[in-house]
Amino acid sequence: MAGTDSGTTGAGGGQDRPIVIVGASLGGAKAAEALREAGYRGGIVLIGEEHERPYERPPLSKGYLLGKTPREKIYVHPPQWYAEHDVTLRLGTAVSSIDPAAHTVTLADDGRVEYAKLLLTTGSVPRRLPVPGADQGGVLYLRRVEDSERIKAALRPGARIAVVGAGWIGLEVAAAARAAGAEVTVLEALELPLLRVLGREVAQVFADLHREHGVDLRFGAEVAELTGDGGTVSGVRLGDGTTVAADAVVVGIGISPATGLAEAAGLEVDNGIKTDRHLRTSDPDVYAAGDVANAYHPLFGKHVRVEHWANAVNQPQTAARALLGEPDAVYDRVPYFFTDAEWTPRHPDEPVASRDKLSMEYLGYVEPDGYDRVVFRGDVKANEFIAFWLKDGRVLAGMNMNIWDVTDPIRNLIVSKRVVDADRLADPNVPLGEV
Ligand SMILES: Cc1cc2nc3c(=O)[nH]c(=O)nc-3n(C[C@H](O)[C@H](O)[C@H](O)COP(=O)(O)OP(=O)(O)OC[C@H]3O[C@@H](n4cnc5c(N)ncnc54)[C@H](O)[C@@H]3O)c2cc1C
Ligand SMILES: NC(=O)c1ccc[n+]([C@@H]2O[C@H](COP(=O)([O-])OP(=O)(O)OC[C@H]3O[C@@H](n4cnc5c(N)ncnc54)[C@H](O)[C@@H]3O)[C@@H](O)[C@H]2O)c1
Repeated sequence: MAGTDSGTTGAGGGQDRPIVIVGASLGGAKAAEALREAGYRGGIVLIGEEHERPYERPPLSKGYLLGKTPREKIYVHPPQWYAEHDVTLRLGTAVSSIDPAAHTVTLADDGRVEYAKLLLTTGSVPRRLPVPGADQGGVLYLRRVEDSERIKAALRPGARIAVVGAGWIGLEVAAAARAAGAEVTVLEALELPLLRVLGREVAQVFADLHREHGVDLRFGAEVAELTGDGGTVSGVRLGDGTTVAADAVVVGIGISPATGLAEAAGLEVDNGIKTDRHLRTSDPDVYAAGDVANAYHPLFGKHVRVEHWANAVNQPQTAARALLGEPDAVYDRVPYFFTDAEWTPRHPDEPVASRDKLSMEYLGYVEPDGYDRVVFRGDVKANEFIAFWLKDGRVLAGMNMNIWDVTDPIRNLIVSKRVVDADRLADPNVPLGEV
């Protein structure tokens, strides 16, 4: 139905207009929550093209994919939360354009919604595999809850699963597939998994762990074509002429930030929607947060776009305070992410050993080739260690694998930017706070 909606109380930019949030996922829902927590009593309209109310994606490649996390646990808020907090939730509704001068967004059904301030949390979309045969049945991507359900149905004991891309999606799906008893071949273009994020030294640790748990990892793979049989995928043909037979192919070759709306509206876009330290875009009444935001980060002195859960939880809180007019709302958190995988114990009566568990947290930010040394602390063979990435003697990032409660001292090392003694950093007998 076409028409113009307006809210009840403005946020300073217009009379009686609501704050509109486009993108009803983790970032959007956290922004609505933060606005209410900050005491804002005006209208909030949260618009999302998915039909599900806002949910979290990490379980989709872990517990939910394995059937261990029930559906009701994936949601950001219970269903009644939106009405209780006077948040107008418009699901199944895509925003098709923004008119910054008129302060309106247009919906795919031609309806219009006025805004006082606009927050874009449009996230990202999976990159598509650009080869012949990629649009057949059985070629699966993983972003939405229904994608996870499709992949889960394919992970049957004995099924042959080919995974294209050894990034986070590829490795987490490979671990889930092994847990489900499927045969897995992972095809990665580069020489190691997660190479651009972790670098050679730590990427090798991930490669060894997955191989040890029965994943056939193939590097330097050039996917030339997906072969098929009657419209359903049957395998992956590689550039070297070999073919990997597959009952299903899962593609995880990265994402692109969903910047189409912003670009068409004339906002500055470069590897995401560019924002300042307050998460304000090139239009003073439009903000961006989460996967889609390429935000100026004061700690690093440059723009950084982070594609992880914690960023989608925390940035919207800063954006909410900033768009309500708080001048000191600045986003300067150290980037953080985690991953989890667990394989079956080698002996059914034994507890899960550290080598059968991949539970890690990563803090910091390192560009590919942005470090000159990796220091390991702990027992890499037992898979209980901390890795630090250093440049000129300063810690840029730290990753704790199967070791807990160390994020505060790791964060302090990063934020302090001081030169550390690498031998003391490597010595588990020296408390991290005293390195
Ligand atoms: C399977 C999976 C597992 C993950 N696991 C981890 C993990 O273990 N650890 C970690 O740190 N991170 C993980 N991540 C990353 C994390 O989930 C993302 O960083 C996070 O979802 C980003 O949230 P967001 O709200 O910014 O964007 P998104 O989650 O992408 O949400 C954006 C929403 O906006 C909607 N939208 C876009 N355009 C429009 C429009 N024009 N109109 C209306 N709606 C629109 C989209 O449909 C979507 O619902 C995982 C991601 C995936 C896919
Ligand atoms: N634990 C986590 O933090 C987690 C878990 C799942 C997903 N995610 C997020 O989900 C998003 C998508 O994950 P992803 O794994 O798709 O992306 P990614 O960027 O982590 O990894 C993509 C991988 O695919 C490889 N690749 C690219 N093109 C290829 C090709 N044609 N053939 C073979 N390999 C190719 C790349 O070299 C890279 O290793 C990311 O934003 C990621 O951060 C995060």
